[in-house]
Amino acid sequence: MNTKINTNSVAVVTGGARGIGFGSAVALAAKGFHLALVDLREEAVNEAAEKLRATGAQAEAFVADVSDFAQAQDVAKEIVGQDRSINVLLNNAGIGSSNGLLEISEAEWDRTIDINLKSCFNWSRAVVPSMLDSGWGRIISISSIASYSGGTVSKLAYAASKSGILGMTRSLAKELGPSITVNAICPGTISTAMNPKTDAEGISLGRLGTPEDIGQVVAFLASSDPNFITGQALTVDGFQYIT
Ligand SMILES: NC(=O)c1ccc[n+]([C@@H]2O[C@H](COP(=O)([O-])OP(=O)(O)OC[C@H]3O[C@@H](n4cnc5c(N)ncnc54)[C@H](O)[C@@H]3O)[C@@H](O)[C@H]2O)c1
Repeated sequence: MNTKINTNSVAVVTGGARGIGFGSAVALAAKGFHLALVDLREEAVNEAAEKLRATGAQAEAFVADVSDFAQAQDVAKEIVGQDRSINVLLNNAGIGSSNGLLEISEAEWDRTIDINLKSCFNWSRAVVPSMLDSGWGRIISISSIASYSGGTVSKLAYAASKSGILGMTRSLAKELGPSITVNAICPGTISTAMNPKTDAEGISLGRLGTPEDIGQVVAFLASSDPNFITGQALTVDGFQYIT
C-alpha cells in the first residue's frame, strides 16, 4: 500500500503526449496519481490526456516547451495553485540528434542540450518547492544507454545530453535527500516514433522494448515504497549488447 499518494498528488510527465512519456503516464495513473502531461504538441497532448480520463484517471494537458525556464515555472504554479502537490516529476521529453562533431551545427548542439538536459534543470527547479512543502518527492529522468556507450558515432550531442542527466541525478540526489529521491532510467531501443529500429539483434531478451516496459519501472521508482534507492541509473534494455 502506497500511503503517501493522496487525491492531491500530481505526477508531471514531460513529453507525455506519446511514446515512453505516455506509456509511463498510464502506469502512474494506475498507481493513483493525477497526471499533468506537458508537451509541445498541442493536439497530441490533449488527446493523450483525454485517453487517460477515458480510463477513469485524472489527467490534464499543458502545452509548453521544456527547454524554456519560465514556462516550467508557470505550469508548476498553475498546478500547485489548484491546491495540489507535485510529488513526481518524470523528465522524459527529448529529441534525437544525428550529426557528428564535424557536421553538427552550433544551433543543433544547443537545441539538443537545451531540450534533453536543461529541461531537467528547468523542471526540477520548478517542482521541488512543492515536493519539499509536502515532505516527499520522486524525480525520475529518462537518460539512455547512449549515456555510457556513447551511442553511435553520430550521436555526439545526444550522448552528451544523456550523460549530463546522470551527473545531475547524482548531484540532486545528494542535495535533495532525505525527502526526495532522484533516479535515472537508461532505456535501450524502445519502439516509439523517435526510434524506427525494428531489428532485435544483439538484445538478449529477443525483442525491442515498449513504452510499457519503461512505464513499469517509472511507476516503481515513483511510488513511496522504494525508500532507499536514490542517485541511481537503472538500465532497462533487455540487455542490449550491440548498440
Ligand atoms: N525510443 C528509444 O529507443 C529511446 C531510448 C533511450 C532513451 N529514450 C528517451 O526517451 C525519451 C522519450 O522518447 P520517445 O522514444 O518516447 O520519443 P517520442 O518522440 O515518441 O516522444 C517524445 C515526446 O517529447 C515531446 N517533446 C519533444 N521536444 C519537446 C519540447 N521541447 N518541449 C516539450 N515536449 C517536447 C514530443 O512532442 C513527444 O511527444 C527521450 O528523452 C528519449 O531520448 C528513447
